Amino acid sequence: MFKTINLAVLISGGGKTLQNLIDKIEDKTLNAKIQIVISSSPDAYGLKRAEQNNIPATIVNHSDYNSSEVFSNAIIKEIEKYPIDLIILAGFMHLLRIPDKYSEKVMNIHPGLIPSFCGKGYYGHHVHKAVIESGIKVSGCTVHFVDNEYDHGPIIIQRTVPVYEVDTPDTLAQRVFKEECIAYPEAINLFAEGRLKIEGRRVKILSPTSK
Ligand code: GAR
Repeated sequence: MFKTINLAVLISGGGKTLQNLIDKIEDKTLNAKIQIVISSSPDAYGLKRAEQNNIPATIVNHSDYNSSEVFSNAIIKEIEKYPIDLIILAGFMHLLRIPDKYSEKVMNIHPGLIPSFCGKGYYGHHVHKAVIESGIKVSGCTVHFVDNEYDHGPIIIQRTVPVYEVDTPDTLAQRVFKEECIAYPEAINLFAEGRLKIEGRRVKILSPTSK
């Protein structure tokens, strides 16, 4: 059995992704403990989910900061109060400047296939709307390590779904989210098992025996 990995989960809104991780920890398919939830908004419903599950939570209100460096520093200061192995962005809508200490220790999930339909302004509903308008036939989700650019770091896992002619952003979002619920816990488990090896832009997934 691998050691339980300690997570800090950063949210900005509804916390569906946070809830998925809570559920997977509960059903023991994710060997992790959420030490702290940090919300960039005082109104995020995800804060309620943390409270309902007795997870410590705090707010670092993005509106109180006028530079992304100072905002990021405030978040890192909260994270440093806990023994965190991995920082998880879960519907977190801001750029996080990552100090060296946490380099290669921050993950994000994006509801599209990076490097398409990503970057500033592409989040949630906006991604699915742009995907449908583009006419592409396949979409999906991407879990990646985070660097200091939006939706840019090395890709860990992608899962795909078909895009149907009758899709609306909502129906497509639901189909993609089902895949997100599989991909994020899988990536976190691989990290916990020491099976992710970053080589430049590529992430190798090591077999359980070769690491
Ligand atoms: C998820 O679909 C996630 O992929 C997306 O936000 C949703 C979760 O929001 N994240 C992004 O678009 C990041 N670029 P929620 O957890 O607030 O419900």
